[in-house]
Amino acid sequence: MQIHGKRDFDSKAATWDEEPRRVALAREVTAAIIREIPFVNGMDVLDYGCGSGLVTLGLQAHVGRIIGADSSQGMLDVLTGKVREQGLVNVSTRLIDLTSQDSLDGDFDVIVSSMTLHHVCDVPALISRFVRSLKPGGWLALADLEAEDGSFHDDPAGVCHHGFERSYLHGVLTDHGCSDIRVVQAAIVHKPRPDGGERLYPVLLAVGRKGL
Ligand SMILES: C[S@@+](CC[C@H](N)C(=O)[O-])C[C@H]1O[C@@H](n2cnc3c(N)ncnc32)[C@H](O)[C@@H]1O
Repeated sequence: MQIHGKRDFDSKAATWDEEPRRVALAREVTAAIIREIPFVNGMDVLDYGCGSGLVTLGLQAHVGRIIGADSSQGMLDVLTGKVREQGLVNVSTRLIDLTSQDSLDGDFDVIVSSMTLHHVCDVPALISRFVRSLKPGGWLALADLEAEDGSFHDDPAGVCHHGFERSYLHGVLTDHGCSDIRVVQAAIVHKPRPDGGERLYPVLLAVGRKGL
């Protein structure tokens, strides 16, 4: 799919959490990740496309250290503010865009990403970079919209995919040598329609494990 310009997440960062639908979705995605991944003490985790840190902060109590990574400095500033306010010592941020030349240093036990894949045109290339940055036996947990008709975003800027088929996500993880792959429903977003009704958009969580 052709991408329509770049979405300006910096200008949305300060008010991102004011939309209850986003907060509820992040809470459900976080709960699904915690159900699907066997978190043990001291894990090093990356949340790629962390935004204001709704998922990052939901996971922090379950992990050793977590890095919130995003290509929007505005989003990272919001997350940093929350981290300071809550006095958290195991959460840090990193400005990074793996679709450019940025490199991902680190050796993670778990890499998660929520509602970011649809903004990345070359998803297999991104997943390849994720898998390279996982420890052997490390986990990937990727949440995004199930394939939809393009009505989810009112503004198409920066949207590369109208969600993903379950079989596509399963296939990309298989192609990158993952095992223990499953694609489950993590949440359903209820969006009001102009006619007063509502539209339901399922959100999937694809999980896979790098070979030992
Ligand atoms: C829809 S928001 C989701 C934020 C957060 N994960 C959540 O669930 O609330 C998408 C996020 O992905 C980030 N993003 C988009 N393209 C990116 C890229 N190529 N690299 C890193 N982050 C990216 C945006 O800046 C934005 O914060």
